[in-house]
Amino acid sequence: MTTTEQLDTIHAVRAEFDSVFTWDYARSRPSLIKLYEKAKTSQWNASTDLDWSVDVDPERVAQELGGGGTMRFQALAEAENSPVKHFGPKEWSQVGVELQNSLLSQFMHGEQGALLCTARIVETVPWIDAKYYAATQVMDEARHVEVFARYLDEKLGYQYRINENLKGILDDILRDPRWDIAYLGMQIMVEGLALAAFGMMHMVTTEPLLKKMLRYVMSDEARHVAFGVLSLQEYYKGLSAAEMRERQEFAYDVACRLKRRFAHTEMWERMGVDPDAVYRTMDRVNPPAQQQFQQLLFSKIVPNCKKLGLLDAADGWLRERFTEIGVIQFEDWADTGEEYGTCEAERQCRAVS
Ligand SMILES: [Fe+2]
Ligand SMILES: [Fe+2]
Repeated sequence: MTTTEQLDTIHAVRAEFDSVFTWDYARSRPSLIKLYEKAKTSQWNASTDLDWSVDVDPERVAQELGGGGTMRFQALAEAENSPVKHFGPKEWSQVGVELQNSLLSQFMHGEQGALLCTARIVETVPWIDAKYYAATQVMDEARHVEVFARYLDEKLGYQYRINENLKGILDDILRDPRWDIAYLGMQIMVEGLALAAFGMMHMVTTEPLLKKMLRYVMSDEARHVAFGVLSLQEYYKGLSAAEMRERQEFAYDVACRLKRRFAHTEMWERMGVDPDAVYRTMDRVNPPAQQQFQQLLFSKIVPNCKKLGLLDAADGWLRERFTEIGVIQFEDWADTGEEYGTCEAERQCRAVS
């Protein structure tokens, strides 16, 4: 491997933080103890629990996920002065395949971010029960990177580079020395959005390998988000209004950047279309269905922020922002602090049936 290739392959994020020992080994957080026990009995093996021998037809999978490109981007195709006016059935079918590939590639990169963030939490969180749990999550995340990378490599044949928005978010989380920011950024925001996105993909796909893989990953992710909710709930009770405001601003900034992550810049570039021209047209014609899809991605983040007290702290600053971007309606949906048990039970039932 040449130096340029190495530079291309490795991305280093410099960070300064405290690696924290605790000499208090007493088990004092029952909800985290329960979660840790659950994690120990919920491990699965990507090599043996999934059937990798199935043949996958990327075009068929894409068709199911987005109705090919045509249906999903119908409004874009029909718009006046549309940058994709010249697309025929062949191009639209390709958009479907690319979109699927781009989405799964970003899932894979996000999973690696989760792997690094959780390894960080093992070092920085001051509670023994949280260190134990976070250690199980490190293993979960390694498995998630493994399955998405293998699916892309063996079944779809190529992968996209990381999206700049996602990369920026992961870098910022890893640069921050505060232990709770790794949780808030990763467990609440990135994983909250991933859980909703996996759920939508799982619901529509009938490709058996992808479906089972997503179900397994989701049952782990639900625990991870619950880990964030349970840990931060305790910590945030002790913070001042000014400190809470800092967290609100961080959460809002990540939310806006995550929203842009779904713009698929790399995909449009690969299709030979100027992404900015696509966004300008989309803004003009954005159909209600597309808006609804974007909003649904926040269906886990908003109730979890509420449970942490982040919506209404500091005079309800975050509630106002979430109202402005049209996602506040999810505030009373199930928060993941309670939901992970259901998700896990469901996985076990389906695994036996
Ligand atoms: Fe994960
Ligand atoms: Fe996770």
